[in-house]
Amino acid sequence: MTAHSHRLAMFTNVENRTALVVGGGPVAARKAAHLHKAGATVKVVTEQVSDAMAQLAAKHSIEVIQRSYDPTDLQQVHLVCAASNNSELNFNIATAAQQQNIPVNVADNPEAGTFILPSIIDRSPMLIAVSSGGTSPVLSRLLAARIEAFVPHSYGNLAQLAGRYRNRIKKLFSHWRDRRRFWEQQLAGEVGELMLRGHSADAEATLLSLLDQSEQTAKTQQNDTFTPTAKDIGEVYLVGAGPGDPDLLSFRALRLMQQADVVLYDRLVSDAIMRLVKKDATTVYVGKQRSNHALKQDSINALLVKHAKQGQRVLRLKGGDPFIFGRGGEEIETLSSEGIPFQVVPGITAASGCASFAGIPLTHRDHAQTCLFVTGHLKNNSIDLNWQALVQPQQTVVIYMGLIGLPTISQQLMAHGMSEQTPIALISKGTTSDQVVVVATLNSIVEKVSQAKVKAPTLIIIGEVVTLHEKLAWFEPNALNSGFRT
Ligand SMILES: C[S@@+](CC[C@H](N)C(=O)[O-])C[C@H]1O[C@@H](n2cnc3c(N)ncnc32)[C@H](O)[C@@H]1O
Repeated sequence: MTAHSHRLAMFTNVENRTALVVGGGPVAARKAAHLHKAGATVKVVTEQVSDAMAQLAAKHSIEVIQRSYDPTDLQQVHLVCAASNNSELNFNIATAAQQQNIPVNVADNPEAGTFILPSIIDRSPMLIAVSSGGTSPVLSRLLAARIEAFVPHSYGNLAQLAGRYRNRIKKLFSHWRDRRRFWEQQLAGEVGELMLRGHSADAEATLLSLLDQSEQTAKTQQNDTFTPTAKDIGEVYLVGAGPGDPDLLSFRALRLMQQADVVLYDRLVSDAIMRLVKKDATTVYVGKQRSNHALKQDSINALLVKHAKQGQRVLRLKGGDPFIFGRGGEEIETLSSEGIPFQVVPGITAASGCASFAGIPLTHRDHAQTCLFVTGHLKNNSIDLNWQALVQPQQTVVIYMGLIGLPTISQQLMAHGMSEQTPIALISKGTTSDQVVVVATLNSIVEKVSQAKVKAPTLIIIGEVVTLHEKLAWFEPNALNSGFRT
C-alpha cells in the first residue's frame, strides 16, 4: 500500500519577508541559516543563545532577541519555525500561528506544523528538495547527499544560460512543442554537454550560433514552426571505469554512462558498473581477454566510427584508466582522423586502486621515491622489458598483466641483481569483494601464488613498500559476488 504524503511540494519566495525562529539551539540555528540563505529577513527569539546561533547571527547580521517568546512576536511575520527545546511551547506557537494562517514549522513535531524544510541540493537557480515528510530527516539527508554527488555543479550555469535566452527562443518557436523539442535537443545535447564540462563560453556561443542560424532560416522560410536539424554526427566518450568497485567511478563517467546511446565495453568492466549504464542503451561486449579477443582492436575502432557517424552518443567503457595500458590512444587516433568529436574521462587505474585497497602506498618517504608502471604481457613466451631499469633502489615496480609471466619476471629480476628477499605482492580482483592479496618475497612468490589459486585480473607490486601492507591493510573483502565475468 502506498502511503500518501498529504504534502504539496512548492517553492515559495521569502525574499525580504520576515521569518521568525523561536529557539536558540543548534536546530534553531540550522533553520535560521536555511531561511537566511533563501533570502528571508530572519528574527530569532530565544532566552538562551547557543554557540552555533551566536556564530550564525554574527556572520549574517541576524537579529537575535534574547527573551522569552511572546504571542505578539507573530505579528507581521510571514512564516515561523518553532524550534525551542520546550515541546509545549512549540506546540502552542504552532496552534497560534495556524489560527492566524501563518505557515509554521515545528522542529520536534512536524505533524503539529503546516510545513517542513526539506534537504536542499542547491544548483541555483535550480533547487532540488528532498523530504521524507518529517518521518526521517536523516534518510532525506542521505538521499540528498547521493543526489548532491550525482548532479554536476555546473547545472546552475546551464539553467542560467537557458533563462537568458528563454524569451528569444519563445519568439522563434511560437508553438510550445517546438520550443520543448529545441530545449531538449540542446540541454541534453551539445550545449548542455559543453556547459557541464565547464566550457560555459563555448556553450553560449554554440547556442547563439544555432539561434542566429534558426532565426535566419525562419525569416527566409517565413515559417515560425521551423526546427533546427539535429547534428548528423555523434560523439564518442572514452571513459575509464576504474578497477571494479562502482563507487570508484568519477561523476563525469557516471553522467556520460547515463546519456550514451551505445556502449562498447570490455571484460574488465564489472557487471556492477554495467548496471549503471542508461537502461535503454545498446550494449556491445567487445571482449579483450588474454589471447581470446572477442573483437580485434581495428574492429573496435571501426565500430566506434560507425556508431558515431550514425549520430549516436557512443560510450567506450574501459577498465581502469583508458590511457594506461588501455589502447585508448589508438581508439581516439582513429576518431580524430575521421573528424569525430570525442572526450576522454580518466579512471582510477588498477595500480592506484589495488595499492589503496591493499594498504600498499606506491611511494613513501622512507622506501620509494620512484614508481614504474610496466606490462608483463608475454609475447612469444618472453617479456620485453628493460630489466636493468627495474632493478633500482628506492623504487616501486608495478606490473600489469603479469600473472602468466610471473616465473619469468621473478627469474629475470633476480638474474639482473634484485635481491631474492625483495618484498612482492600480487593482488587479484583488486577493490572488489573478491580481492585477494598474496604477499611474498621474490624467490617465493611463484610458489605462493600457485597455492593461492588466484584469478585474473591480477596486479604485481614489487619493492619495500610492500612491507607496509601488514600494518596498513584496511579493506575487508567478503564473499559477495565481485561482478567480474570469469
Ligand atoms: C589491459 S590492462 C588494462 C589496464 C587499465 N587500463 C587500468 O588502467 O587499470 C589489464 C590489466 O590491468 C590489471 N587490472 C585491472 N583491473 C584490476 C583489478 N581489479 N585487480 C587487479 N588487477 C587489475 C591487470 O593486470 C590486468 O591484466
